[in-house]
Amino acid sequence: MTAKPLDGKALAEKIRAEIAAEVVALRSAHGVVPGLAAVLVGDDPASRVYVRNKHKACRDAGLAGEVIKLAESTSEAELLAVIDRLNADSGTHGILVQLPLPKAIDPARVIDRVDPRKDVDGFHPQNLGLLVAGRPRFIACTPLGVRRMLVDHGIETKGSHIVILGRSITVGAPMALLALQKGIGGDATTTVCHSATRDVAAIAREADILIAAIGKREIVRGDWIKPGAVVVDVGIHRTEAGGLAGDVAFAEAERVASWLSPVPGGVGPMTIAMLLHNTVLAAKLQIDKGEKR
Ligand code: GUN
Repeated sequence: MTAKPLDGKALAEKIRAEIAAEVVALRSAHGVVPGLAAVLVGDDPASRVYVRNKHKACRDAGLAGEVIKLAESTSEAELLAVIDRLNADSGTHGILVQLPLPKAIDPARVIDRVDPRKDVDGFHPQNLGLLVAGRPRFIACTPLGVRRMLVDHGIETKGSHIVILGRSITVGAPMALLALQKGIGGDATTTVCHSATRDVAAIAREADILIAAIGKREIVRGDWIKPGAVVVDVGIHRTEAGGLAGDVAFAEAERVASWLSPVPGGVGPMTIAMLLHNTVLAAKLQIDKGEKR
């Protein structure tokens, strides 16, 4: 078997074009241009690339994008003051603080400070809580992108066993909650594996849909995959040769899986498309709130 590609790049392009049209419509109906502020603290090279890509995608889709770059030495109080300013700014509909943050800053305090109505990352406890309650508002961009990719490729999640490798609040935990939601792209039975899980490979082999978000390069081997399973690779790692690899050993997985997301060109572009989606959603919610007042 040779797995078919879960082509996130092509799908993300289509979604971004749809979002660009929506931005034009919002502007003519309400005079509002959805605006995203991305805050980058320090000079982690990967984070810089991610923020640059997010900013470019915003501008290309007609959104207003602002990048606020702060020094590695920025204190928590200084960062919280920046967030307060963005919370109060009516032209900023979405706020994203790129993670990881420098060690001196407590990420939980930062996440809690973002206005939950501007939390386009979906990391605020209020938004995570709404997802647990089955009435989501902002859903974390990577899980949202994975679900959209599965749905658009016609992959049935209802009744399937989805195994997620990793329990982070950025991917694993919201991914599990999303897969449990009722309706399209949900209704799955989910298992979440993490660093204390015994015999991860055996559990992974039970998956109809295996989502790898461990952050360890090519840890998922061909024999971790049930023949015919769908494999989604959330990992991204730079190789010694200067290329990119995922959490999944691609050549081995390709021989076993029915569908497999490539790295690059799979989940990454979908995450960015969903960030734009969430920013437009934030603008709409803020417009509605203004009009109902
Ligand atoms: N770092 C890695 N992934 C993400 C993400 O989705 N959002 C933010 N803010 N930081 C990240």
